[in-house]
Amino acid sequence: MIFRAWSWLAMEKADKYEKVMELGRRRGFFWPSYEIYGGVGGFIDFGPVGVALKRKIENSWRDFFLRRHEFLEIETPIITPRKVFEASGHVEHFKDPVVECKGCGRKYRVDHVLAEAGVAEAESMSLSELDNMLRSRGVTCPECRGEFSEPKYVQTMFETTIGPYAEAIGYGRPEAAQGIFVNFKRVYEVGRGRFPIAIGQIGRAMRNEVSPRQGPIRLREFTIMEFEFFFDPEEPSCPLLSKVEDTEIRIIPIQSEGKRSEKPIQLTIREAIDKKIILMEWMAYFMALSHDFVSQLGIPMEKQRFEEKLPTERAHYSAQTFDQEVYLERWGWTEIAGHAYRTSYDISRHMEYSGVDMRVFRPYTQPIEVEEKRLIPVMEEIKKDFGENYAEVVHTVESKDPEEVEREFLEKGFLKVGKYTFFRRHFNIKRFKVKDAGKRIIPHVVEPSFGADRLTYAVMEYAYSTKNDRVILKIPKKIAPIQAVVLPLMTRDELTSKAREIYLDLMEHRFDVYYDEIGSIGRRYARADEIGVPVAITVDYDTLKDDSVTVRERDTWEQRRIGVSNLLSFLHGYFN
Ligand code: ATP
Ligand code: GLY
Repeated sequence: MIFRAWSWLAMEKADKYEKVMELGRRRGFFWPSYEIYGGVGGFIDFGPVGVALKRKIENSWRDFFLRRHEFLEIETPIITPRKVFEASGHVEHFKDPVVECKGCGRKYRVDHVLAEAGVAEAESMSLSELDNMLRSRGVTCPECRGEFSEPKYVQTMFETTIGPYAEAIGYGRPEAAQGIFVNFKRVYEVGRGRFPIAIGQIGRAMRNEVSPRQGPIRLREFTIMEFEFFFDPEEPSCPLLSKVEDTEIRIIPIQSEGKRSEKPIQLTIREAIDKKIILMEWMAYFMALSHDFVSQLGIPMEKQRFEEKLPTERAHYSAQTFDQEVYLERWGWTEIAGHAYRTSYDISRHMEYSGVDMRVFRPYTQPIEVEEKRLIPVMEEIKKDFGENYAEVVHTVESKDPEEVEREFLEKGFLKVGKYTFFRRHFNIKRFKVKDAGKRIIPHVVEPSFGADRLTYAVMEYAYSTKNDRVILKIPKKIAPIQAVVLPLMTRDELTSKAREIYLDLMEHRFDVYYDEIGSIGRRYARADEIGVPVAITVDYDTLKDDSVTVRERDTWEQRRIGVSNLLSFLHGYFN
């Protein structure tokens, strides 16, 4: 009893983060991994209710972005050969600045300790600027107040070897995107050349974070949900923009070079495009959808914002980036998605490193007539100068661009190819009119990239509420991990058998439902409220008389009687 009173008092004082984490552990949402061995920072396990919630969020993302647009989903491996991340630039760029406390030896990300000391834009600074900032602000170890070492970069990809005896280095992917880029051409063909097109993927990503002390917010292994939208840079307009142009979002844009505005401005998507705050229409379209997606997960507009990243803060591949942030009680504004205009960077680099042509053929609506120059060998002259070998000699010039050949003749008076030297007399350069059916382009890409674990936590924080000292998790009903519970009022055979019958019927009809007969009815309602079950269905003695049940709603605690024969249609209406 004393313990209960203490823990209740402790919970009263706890912040939302502690409350959600406590609920997460107690009710089977999530808890630290490897708990029985003391835990390992940066890893969490999802329990039965947490998995159900996370899957609902993932499926909602699939529905919102992929299904409605007929985008394509793929699944690719986590372990990725080094070559891929050399091409993508991650081997060179995926690193964080770190300091070590000279007193206790703890390691920290420098931009994070500086952010806690009120320096907002440390992400942009070089190592020496970070060092100067630490010293001038007198920032010391938050744990023991010890002095910090000089900052240095550490690589944050997990490294491994592929094959137990092999020398081949592989990495745990820090993003799912590269699996999409390397497969672009194949999936484009499987999609029968539909263009523009997006390819999405939900999967695990790994980042060897320096100091993951934020539960589900900063993990070393997490679930990423991202899609790459491929489009023709010469046709960048988004025909779907009109559907979202009145959507209002809150943006913190870059105002002048190297500086963001102090406060968010609220504006419509149309205004953001017209004022050139968002450079790409497709990016604006997906930002609007992402705002709606997060709103329907229960996070209101005023607790969301998009922060534009400074050029020095952006990932190496990005020409414009917005972090979509939500406000969390303990962690402040926290990124839940990144929106990046990745240009043709990734595809170009993979073309360069793999030697595979990944360009897309874009037919013109009508073939156009273009002028083409061709090299016509003057055989008598070539035979005269090169003798019997003339066929091999002509062959060396075939792959040359006629424009270039003409320029060489004009500028130098001759053309050297391997061991042969040609003069103007060896070729005629003729102009022909030809029909051109289309062009080959390297697609440009915009990418929205969501973290499923951060979103799951944020959903829980916003759903967490109390009434009469009891916790109610008001998860939006569309993503409630469990939709309904069926409860016999008492454990009497006639009630339990009827309740089980109803439970099995709902399950047959694919509702996410469970059956609970353990404990008092009040406790069972409380348990259901805590895991966010929107509807509790109680079988009592009246059920045996009139075949009706009590339906209790989580958010209002209102109760009503519904005939068992109407239950399915009631639930279908309620959830859809
Ligand atoms: P941060 O600045 O917080 O480290 P980031 O800029 O590295 O995040 P992105 O690279 O844009 O994040 O990753 C896309 C999304 O993946 C993020 O918006 C976030 O939701 C999620 N994410 C990134 N890192 C982690 C992590 N360590 N743990 C959990 N989720 C993460
Ligand atoms: N794919 C976006 C990122 O991981 O940064």
